[in-house]
Formats: sequence, C-alpha cells, structure tokens
Amino acid sequence: MLSNKTIVVGVSGGIAAFKAAALVSKLTQAGANVHVVMTEAATKFVTPLTFQALARNPVYTDTFTEPDPTKIAHIDTADQADLVLIAPASANSLAKLAHGIADNMLTTLVLATQAPVILAPTMNVNMYEHPSVQKNLKTLEEYGYRLVEPGAGFLACGWIGKGRMAEPEELVEAAEATLAEKTSLVGKRVLVTAGPTREPIDPVRYFTNYSSGKMGYALAREAMLRGANVTLVTGPTALSVPPGVDVIDVVTSQEMYEAVTTLYEHVDVVVKAAAVADYRPVKTYEQKRKKNQESWSVELEATTDILQMLGRTKQKQVLVGFAAESEDLKRYALDKMERKSLDLIVANDITAAGAGFDGDTNIVSIFTRDGRHEEHSEKSKTEVASHVLDAIEAYGKRSGHL
Ligand code: CTP
Repeated sequence: MLSNKTIVVGVSGGIAAFKAAALVSKLTQAGANVHVVMTEAATKFVTPLTFQALARNPVYTDTFTEPDPTKIAHIDTADQADLVLIAPASANSLAKLAHGIADNMLTTLVLATQAPVILAPTMNVNMYEHPSVQKNLKTLEEYGYRLVEPGAGFLACGWIGKGRMAEPEELVEAAEATLAEKTSLVGKRVLVTAGPTREPIDPVRYFTNYSSGKMGYALAREAMLRGANVTLVTGPTALSVPPGVDVIDVVTSQEMYEAVTTLYEHVDVVVKAAAVADYRPVKTYEQKRKKNQESWSVELEATTDILQMLGRTKQKQVLVGFAAESEDLKRYALDKMERKSLDLIVANDITAAGAGFDGDTNIVSIFTRDGRHEEHSEKSKTEVASHVLDAIEAYGKRSGHL
C-alpha cells in the first residue's frame, strides 16, 4: 500500500518528535518516499540530520531555502504528496492550521496541498482539553483532516491523561487506510446535498428545520478523501466547506432542486442528506408583514420532492436517500426506498438520544435495494459517513454501477 507513495511527514515542536523518527523509519521501510518538514521548534528536540538519514531525503525547515531554482519547494512538495502526516501536531501548529496561518514551511505546505492530511495531536492533557484546542480540532475535522487521537497515560510533563502521541504503528495504519480509501472512488463524480432549506415568508421570516448539515458535510468530506470529485449542494449552515470539495450554496428547496437537476446527468452517485422543506408558503410577502393582535394563518404548498424526481429519471446513478423517522423505522425506510426508486437508504430514529439533526453523532440503519441491511450503534457523523460510503461502494460493485 505504501510502496512508491510520496508521504510528507510534518514534525512540529514537542517531545514526541523523537517518536516521529520511528514513524519515518517505518514508512521508509514500507517503501514510501518520505519527505520530512520540520518547524523551527521541532529542530530543538530532534535534529534534521536524524530525519534526513532515516528518510534519505533532504529535510525542509525553512520556506525560503530553495535548493533547486527550477522549483518552488513548498508548492512542489505539496503537489507531489499522496499524503501529509503531521506527527506530532502541537497545539500551536493546530491553531495555525485551523486559521490558515502560513508562517513556516510546514503550515504553508499544508495550505497548498490537495493530498489528504492526517494529524496526530500531541500535548499536555490540560492543553488538549482547553476549549480553544478542542475548537481548532473540530474546525480541522470540518476541513477534512483526519485526526488520530492521542492516547492516555503518563505524559513527559508529569501529568497523567490524554495527550500522548499515537504510536508510530497506529499512524502507519492510518496512512495505509487513508491511501487505500483514496483508491476506491477515484475519479467518480459524487453529488451530496446537505443542510436545511429556508422557505421565505417575507424579507425577515422563513420556515426551516433543525438540520445542521453536519452529516452531509461529513459525507462530502469522506467521498473527497476517497478520491471522488465531490460537489456539495448546501442549504445555509454554519460549517466550513472541506477543501477540495466544490460547493454550490442554495437557500430554498426550489434552488436546491434546480442545482441538483442540472448536475444529475453528470454524476455517478447522489447522496441526498439535505433536510429539504416539504412545504413552503404559497405567497411570499415582498415587504415585511406588520404585526397586529389577530392570529395569522400562512397557507403552505408542497415543494417538489427532489429525490423522487431523481428516482424517476434515474439512468446509471447510485441514488442514496435519508429517512428521518420517529416511529416504525424499517417499514417507512423501505417504503421510501421503493417510492423514490433509491439504491440505498440511510434511516435514523430522530427520537433516539445520540441520533438526528444537530448532534455530532448519529445512529443509523442502512438498507440497500438488493436486500441488505446493516444497523450501527451511536457513532460520530464522520464514522457514519465512512460506513455509508462503504455501503455505497459495496453496492456499486455488486450491482455493477461503480
Ligand atoms: N427529499 C427531497 N426533496 C424533498 C423532501 C425530501 O429530496 N422535497 C429527500 C431528502 O433529502 C431525504 C429523503 O427525501 O433524502 C427523505 O426525506 P423525508 O423528509 O424523511 O421523507 P419524505 O419523503 O418527506 O416523507 P415523510 O415526510 O412522509 O416522512
């Protein structure tokens, strides 16, 4: 898996930099072409010469050292990378990456690369648990970076807790898994819809729902990491679009319908994770409707069921729908799969704790047109996205669609 892959190992400042030496050695022995990039702080812990000897490649520490005048080192290395693995990823480097700061070779390269990025956060337990670090990690996950969580145990600083860098063996596994995944949907075109829609009543009011978009964004990110060309059609959310994913912003269900139908014939897979409004006001007031003491009825009309339309005009696309149910999950999900001519349906019980709209976790069952069924316990939306894509790919292979 790692043979002939170009892997950039980024080493930032922390005592765990010594473990990065074992990591570089293992990756090199597995046949990878390893380029090490160090921050200045990292060089205080381990010398560049150690990494140069292990990787048998020059080590980059300074953005402005350009040994080959025909190339710009940080862009060239970023472009060549099949994978970027940052271990240890210090609190400082994580903060820079979360905010797009490019003030050294490592952070500049990460900003420039289109390769998947794996981060191994490593620091004192209190630093790790600080809300700013947690927020940065969440942001980085939203950008599509993979996190290999630190282990718990004795830390070099004397504290006991979470913060110890994942072992080199675990990081090699993460690298293998990421490179393996990247091969499975390579070149396929995947359309993901996410978030809620807003149906305007007047210039200041609208109908919407509780969808946060997290599930759809996680799916778009996961498909991109697997090498697909991903377009995300999204309603209004507070999330950042993962780098490498094309985005089309929409507001109303009608706009989502138009965006999706325009793209439909060009894509291989459609995942409709959006919570599209089923109804919209018949009339949208052009001016703000003034209040008075009387009650107010707003007449609603049905919106177009986008998924049903896609099902009717389906050619070779794998069509995946979501079913948010509050009772009788299996029956309603199977009925929806039939009614909307879906290949897969991902169903969740929105009344269960840990499942549904705004949380970071979900509990799903996945049903396929050819009669398979898998149930998952409560998992992060990133993990659920991975299961959904596994199911899509397995179905695609069985049915000859992918
Ligand atoms: N969907 C859609 N267009 C709509 C409504 C829903 O494309 N106007 C899609 C959603 O993106 C989701 C699936 O249909 O993938 C199921 O949505 P849901 O609201 O659960 O199902 P409905 O068909 O609306 O059925 P019901 O409200 O009766 O449960």
